[in-house]
Amino acid sequence: MPALTTTPDGFLLHGEPFRIVSGAMHYFRIHPGQWADRLRKARLMGLNTVETYVPWNLHQPDPDGPLVLDGILDLPRYLSLARAEGLHVLLRPGPFICAEWDGGGLPSWLTTDPDIRLRSSDPRFTDAWDRYLDLLLPPLLPHMAAAGGPVIAVQVENEYGAYGDDTTYLKHLHQSLRSRGIEELLFTCEQTDPEHLAAGSLPGTLVTGTFGSKADQNLTRLRAHQPEGPLMCAEFWIGWFDHWGEPHHVRAAADAAADLERLLSAGASVNIYMFHGGTNFGFTNGANHDHAYAPIVTSYDYDAPLTESGDPGPKYHAFREVIARHAPVPDEPAPAPSRKLAPTVVELDRQAPLLPHAARQAERPVRTESPLTLDELGLRSGYALYRTTVPAAGDGVLHFAGGVGDRAQVFLDGAPVGVLERERHDETLPVRVPRAGATLDVLVENMGGVNYGPRIGAPKGLLGAVTFNGTALHGWDCLPLPLNDLSGLTFEAGTAAGPAFHHGTFEVTEPADTFLALPGWTKGQAWINGFHLGRYWNRGPQRTLYVPAPVLRPGSNDLVLLELHATTSPRAQLTDTPDLGPEQR
Ligand code: GLA
Repeated sequence: MPALTTTPDGFLLHGEPFRIVSGAMHYFRIHPGQWADRLRKARLMGLNTVETYVPWNLHQPDPDGPLVLDGILDLPRYLSLARAEGLHVLLRPGPFICAEWDGGGLPSWLTTDPDIRLRSSDPRFTDAWDRYLDLLLPPLLPHMAAAGGPVIAVQVENEYGAYGDDTTYLKHLHQSLRSRGIEELLFTCEQTDPEHLAAGSLPGTLVTGTFGSKADQNLTRLRAHQPEGPLMCAEFWIGWFDHWGEPHHVRAAADAAADLERLLSAGASVNIYMFHGGTNFGFTNGANHDHAYAPIVTSYDYDAPLTESGDPGPKYHAFREVIARHAPVPDEPAPAPSRKLAPTVVELDRQAPLLPHAARQAERPVRTESPLTLDELGLRSGYALYRTTVPAAGDGVLHFAGGVGDRAQVFLDGAPVGVLERERHDETLPVRVPRAGATLDVLVENMGGVNYGPRIGAPKGLLGAVTFNGTALHGWDCLPLPLNDLSGLTFEAGTAAGPAFHHGTFEVTEPADTFLALPGWTKGQAWINGFHLGRYWNRGPQRTLYVPAPVLRPGSNDLVLLELHATTSPRAQLTDTPDLGPEQR
């Protein structure tokens, strides 16, 4: 018998009436040195439960390789810390997690199989899932409530009704958990329109809703679909995520708190999405693609109660007050904001130009007649440099058939001649080729895999033939640049034009959180002490990158930027205040 059971109108935990007051917090978006701090702050707001997805793509980067379960992916440790804090856990292992996460959490080795039917009972998909569960679940079983652990419920799929209606698939997922020893309550979550509820539900499995407002209307729809059982909002959206080039989304604390009050007054259980959003470190952000490709920014602050840097914002205090009217809130002071590093300027006085280094950096340069996609190059994330020669000189048009995935910088004999973006559906570039036999370099960036809808797994890199004035260019060197090891870089003093790594050092007495501001810089990636903070872009909205305190060390610290274009000044700033950009309410 699971620890958490249902009655006609609520939950019982170990036989006692229980209301889930949960907050979403993804361990994989928080530096592991800060997990305990964030969990304590969850409890202090009055949450009795935390919820997390589990990203398949990071835990199993290779289909035949071992499971990755350390560092920021040490889920068993996160679950132990939650238990130590007295919190229950809702686990959402997928397969699909959406979450503005690269590929919605589906591994690229799976999504790039052209024949596979994702999120369906296609055995190519379900067999891969079963093999993954064989690895994932044994280390998690001791953390289930049945074994005295914190996990009281497990979600099956994620908003499946918005995608498909393959009930055999849902049944398979259900059975795949049960047959491997998961005894806890299973549930599905859906947006509450009747079609989604009908398509994504599994008879005998609790259905929960996802919504951010109109609590009464949404609970009524849920009740119409499921006449008995606890009412639960499995994702109560209290803020939102940002795309590059859009304003930063915020929602007034009073407005979100009023909806939380409605939910709790109606007797519903809730999972606040997000309680603490964290950061899309490295190359982990996802993208939307509705009419146009729209990648997600590095910050996943989400305008959540606990900010990206783990400080209580206005919603923290407003929600704590609401929760206190319905459930016990610890009789301890609310947490204070953490100390920040004193503002500092970092001089980036040494450079390593990217293009000359690319050949040395590339793990596996591949020579082909036509350009390969990043997936064909076996590259899950990062960049690739494509190099060939153009036989004819003169004015003309480079045509990239099929476009680029997702952003391409074009160089002729090392000089920048233009940029193509998937966002703008770019396919052509007018150029002047300086000489017959000029070197054409195309540096392509994967800006993040689509995480929602039918375009999951859409290819990256150069997506078709490249022609100059109608003549196909043949004979390409394709150089994958995963940028997961910068140790081979040789920095030298000077000023580099064009794509280059820039290096600087700064002194820290006592590590504390800080924010990296890059005024005058254009677009690229940032690392501190080898920790990949993520992508920056002057397109905004976000203007600072969060630097977690545990990334820093007392003494000298290294900052490396990969700047793809140019900077007006070789200087970066560490500030004490985040700047996520102009706001949209
Ligand atoms: C849906 C998904 C989540 C997330 C939110 C938006 O509800 O289930 O994973 O993508 O939308 O943030």
